[in-house]
Amino acid sequence: MTKGKELSSFFVTGEGPDGSGKTTQFNILRSWLDDLGVNYISAREPGGTIIGEKVREIILNPLHSEMDPRTEFLLYTAARAQNVFQVVRPALRSGKMVLMDRFYDSSTAYQGYGRMLDVEDVIEITNFATDNLVPDVTIYLDIDPQLGLARRRSNSADEWNRLDAEAMEFHNRVREGYLSIARSEKDRFRVIDGSKSINEVAYDIRTVLEPELRVRGYIK
Ligand code: TYD
Repeated sequence: MTKGKELSSFFVTGEGPDGSGKTTQFNILRSWLDDLGVNYISAREPGGTIIGEKVREIILNPLHSEMDPRTEFLLYTAARAQNVFQVVRPALRSGKMVLMDRFYDSSTAYQGYGRMLDVEDVIEITNFATDNLVPDVTIYLDIDPQLGLARRRSNSADEWNRLDAEAMEFHNRVREGYLSIARSEKDRFRVIDGSKSINEVAYDIRTVLEPELRVRGYIK
């Protein structure tokens, strides 16, 4: 087993229920990091590698409605293992900041709490797949799923995927799952109110990240 964190590096993940505005905020965040000249890479889950993108297509295909929750979880986890070993660890080792759009907290929230798989099993299998890699900071955009999904439906640019079509109870459980992780991992999880305006949320994210970037020497 290798240690959970790398020295002189910064691993940031972004999480949130569907429609929390995470994708919009990640775009804004990336241009802010570009302007600051931060040495970083950005990746997404599921995906981020050629293998991962293929797995993503299988998972999110609306025709695959027969997929068992365990299959779904193991597919996400397989893509994640590949991402960690091919992309994330090498970047952290070389001193880069890594910005990930979703990581294992998505599986805990969606497959564990949402699909009601045993959360302890989910965590154990995840730790095996990631070799215990833990983000330094997780930005969690919190939003009531009712509002998040209404937002998403009104934005025709967003693809409508198989998971969006789930019942509202599923999405409520996902949010409760995230809030429960946030309560048990107060140091890592930074909860941001995703119902605020785009500019306000972007400001809140920068307020969380700026001191962390400074202390690690990514900005002066
Ligand atoms: P995506 O189009 O990336 O949505 P978003 O822009 O909200 O991130 O689709 C990802 C979907 O997959 C989203 O509904 C969350 C879900 N998901 C899981 O259920 N488990 C996981 O481990 C991950 C990474 C994502």
